[in-house]
Amino acid sequence: MDRNAPVGLFDSGIGGWTVLREIRRELPAEALLYVADAAGAPYGDRPPEFIAARALAIAHWLRAAGAKALVVACNTATSAAVAQLRDQHTVPIVAIEPAVKPAALLTRSGIIGVLATSLTVASGNFSRLRDAHGGNVTILAQACPGLVEQVEAGALDAPHTRDLLNRYVAPLLAQGADTLVLACTHFPWLAPMLRELVGSEVVVVDPAPAVARELRRRLTLAALLAPAQAAGNIRAVTTGDPQRLREQLARLGEVVSEIVGIALPLSGARPFRQPQSVTAQE
Ligand code: DGL
Repeated sequence: MDRNAPVGLFDSGIGGWTVLREIRRELPAEALLYVADAAGAPYGDRPPEFIAARALAIAHWLRAAGAKALVVACNTATSAAVAQLRDQHTVPIVAIEPAVKPAALLTRSGIIGVLATSLTVASGNFSRLRDAHGGNVTILAQACPGLVEQVEAGALDAPHTRDLLNRYVAPLLAQGADTLVLACTHFPWLAPMLRELVGSEVVVVDPAPAVARELRRRLTLAALLAPAQAAGNIRAVTTGDPQRLREQLARLGEVVSEIVGIALPLSGARPFRQPQSVTAQE
């Protein structure tokens, strides 16, 4: 395996970019190859089989494109597919999941709120986390349909976004939650609005920095860290419209030189040929 090969990340859209930002900060020399599955988005209210099929196909695409490690930058995809991904791939896989454990350590009221997609809240992965870390705390899980769509549309300041967010958060605060877990990677884009709504006393936990540190640990263990002098270039791929992704990222202040569109074969788990523009050596 080539230490200069990219780390592959994926999400249904621009949510996983909140994880990419942290990885870029933690590991600036790493080349990153990001897949936004716009054609399959949003994931959160779909059947787990649908999401698993897409996650497996994207992982194979990333491996065929040379990825030396995979980051599942989507809690919903982790919930639906992490076990199968680990079965199918031997490269390091770091998968984001709701940060229930750190939140349970941080809460003073003993009540934490978890903001996630419907699928994540209903998943076995979440029940397992709840059982493992919920012994001494109350965990209030809140599905947040509609928020991902608002983020994808760039409506980060819109009144409808504020209404939705408030509708999801207010009952958690009313029940005594003093710690909120952002368990969907789209939600850190709403952090400024959330902070306005909840005030400065409530602790907001985003697991993305921990994912970046875990990636460093795994790459180090596998002797796969990029050389310190490497350029760390970032490329993005979408199953939707590349121009739309370019505009979405530009609105967030992110400029990416290379964004291409791909079609995702969902027929099976076999690797397949990637477009010329993303095969270039780092
Ligand atoms: N960003 C994804 C997550 O972390 C959810 C996005 C979606 O619902 O499409 O759960």
